[in-house]
Amino acid sequence: MRHSPWTYLGLTALGSWRMAQTTLIPRALFFLWLLLSVQCVDSKSDLVVSLENQQIIVDVHNDLRREAATNGPSGAATNMRMVYWDDDIAARAQALVDTCIFKHDTNYERAVASLPGVSMGQNIAAVRPPGDVQDWEPRIRSWYNELKHFRYGRATPRASHFTQLSYWETYRVGCGFKICPLRKGYLWGFYFCNYAMIRGRKNMKKPWTDGKQCSECPDNCVNGLCDCGDTACFNRGTMNITTCKCECAPAPFTKEMDSFFSGVSCEIVNCPATDPKYCKPGKCQGNWPYLYCPRTCGLC
Ligand SMILES: *[C@@H]1O[C@H](CO)[C@@H](O)[C@H](O)[C@H]1NC(C)=O
Repeated sequence: MRHSPWTYLGLTALGSWRMAQTTLIPRALFFLWLLLSVQCVDSKSDLVVSLENQQIIVDVHNDLRREAATNGPSGAATNMRMVYWDDDIAARAQALVDTCIFKHDTNYERAVASLPGVSMGQNIAAVRPPGDVQDWEPRIRSWYNELKHFRYGRATPRASHFTQLSYWETYRVGCGFKICPLRKGYLWGFYFCNYAMIRGRKNMKKPWTDGKQCSECPDNCVNGLCDCGDTACFNRGTMNITTCKCECAPAPFTKEMDSFFSGVSCEIVNCPATDPKYCKPGKCQGNWPYLYCPRTCGLC
């Protein structure tokens, strides 16, 4: 197969909901991983993407999100959130791109200790020739240009980068870059971006709520985007875009409490007297993640 000078490859994390749920791990393992990751990818100096490029990445993302949120063929967004840079997320993306394997990692590998219980999305691209300098804008735009395959409300797998890029609840991005050999030894520029939070398969059809732009965030609409700062909601909590306050994940199948989590970022674990009946030791990485079984899975 011959490549045009600027061949573009792209993949996106399909963000299987099930996978997001199954990759959560017992605390002991998580802690070990946390230590390892602090050793390996702690310092900002490990970031290959310069401050200037970080700014470009954030600005281009926000520009394109604003474009998606403004009335057009795919409607407007009532709730499109402003995104910010995150060094930890970027370090994970850099660690992955450093392997020079053009492939997504798992949701578990993508996770960062500073955002517990937050599932990450991922867009990756490769371009040949790699060029002399990192050139982020065309890569990000190529993800956005899948808009042509997108119809709001319809299943559009060919727009999976676009729907991650334009997922309303995404609030942080971090990216890594490396020049790598791929296909017959040609050198390519690898551009990997991770996102908090993941779009999730169920949001592919409707990555945002269609309606009047910013209408869900009248008090914090900044330049056409809902700006809640870079506030994260941990442990599967979701952001209420109107109030910029986290709504902590409901505890299913228990009457004891509404959620096992509280606090501004849902960072406080409130342990139930007993876990719901469905919780079973050894199932913490299974279909029922530890977040729903805090005792059984070692959060308490
Ligand atoms: C956000 O919070 C407001 C005020 O508490 C509430 O009325 C609204 O229903 C919430 N929005 C969502 C999407 O839950």
